[in-house]
Amino acid sequence: MANPVRTEAEVLSSTPEGAYQRLVLHAPAAAPRVRPGHFATVAVGGPLSSMLLRRAFWIHRADQAAGTVELLVEERGPGSRELVRARAGERVDLIAPLGTPFPLPDGPVSSLLVAVGYAGAPLFALAEEIRRDGGEVGFMLGAASSGRLFGVAQARALTRDVLVVTEDGSAGLTGLVTDPLAQAIKAIDARVVYACGPLPLLADISRVSLELGARCWTAVETAMACGTGLCATCVLPVVGADGVSRPTRCCTDGPVFDGARVRWSEAGRVPPDPAGAAGAGAVAR
Ligand SMILES: Cc1cc2nc3c(=O)[nH]c(=O)nc-3n(C[C@H](O)[C@H](O)[C@H](O)COP(=O)(O)OP(=O)(O)OC[C@H]3O[C@@H](n4cnc5c(N)ncnc54)[C@H](O)[C@@H]3O)c2cc1C
Ligand code: FES
Repeated sequence: MANPVRTEAEVLSSTPEGAYQRLVLHAPAAAPRVRPGHFATVAVGGPLSSMLLRRAFWIHRADQAAGTVELLVEERGPGSRELVRARAGERVDLIAPLGTPFPLPDGPVSSLLVAVGYAGAPLFALAEEIRRDGGEVGFMLGAASSGRLFGVAQARALTRDVLVVTEDGSAGLTGLVTDPLAQAIKAIDARVVYACGPLPLLADISRVSLELGARCWTAVETAMACGTGLCATCVLPVVGADGVSRPTRCCTDGPVFDGARVRWSEAGRVPPDPAGAAGAGAVAR
């Protein structure tokens, strides 16, 4: 787990970006601790609110020199609506960074970064680190429609290998990011795939990557009540390094997991071998 801090972060700016709102928060104690793949939680509603649970968001960017942390928020319900409406000068109760970051590839290999909508938020800082280490990157960015895409211009500033896919065909190819995934992996000879998005897509991305011999790191979004390892609302069945399958907390042991170790078909249900099942879900590596 990361080494998080809780802080009253001032909103420095709030700007719309397609279907999302980009918040730049002044959080100088948190910013130097952030690595790509970390997330943050924000308290909503104030101390007397019935909204007891903090809301989780990927950290899009962290700037140590400026002491800032950036979040990308989609308005979904009352908590995210409050954040989308927060204005410069307001303060938010932030805990960051949380979770495990993405491991960098072993050596200067080619990596494919795949995301749907706002879930691409942590991938651009990751891509910059991979390139700094001498690796190459390609992007596949998907969404239901063009207005829900995120980061296409950022991706194009990093590489010519950017594939856009929308479900309604309003931008790029029509379909799901998984449809042209195998061709995209082969096209850039990706040895590592990094993926963020809904669990069913992550399951498919992981499967296709493994079939083609690429390692796949998945950043999962499960419902998280505490975000700090206390409540176990966020567990997924994951096979440990010892080959034993256990309910694993996504907020502290994840949210980044080796896709080969997640028992995707058992996500959201109690597996037949719930705790410490030896040999369950044997992994390829
Ligand atoms: C690790 C992680 C990273 C995330 N990153 C982002 C991000 O970068 N941008 C963004 O817009 N959203 C992100 N989400 C989803 C975001 O947490 C939810 O959209 C938000 O909590 C919804 O709260 P609400 O009050 O607006 O909606 P409501 O639907 O009223 O929320 C009610 C409850 O359900 C939980 N909940 C609802 N949707 C989700 C969800 N998809 N995942 C987890 N819990 C949920 C809320 O935390 C809350 O406790 C992330 C979730 C997780 C777990
Ligand atoms: S959200 Fe509470 S243990 Fe993960």
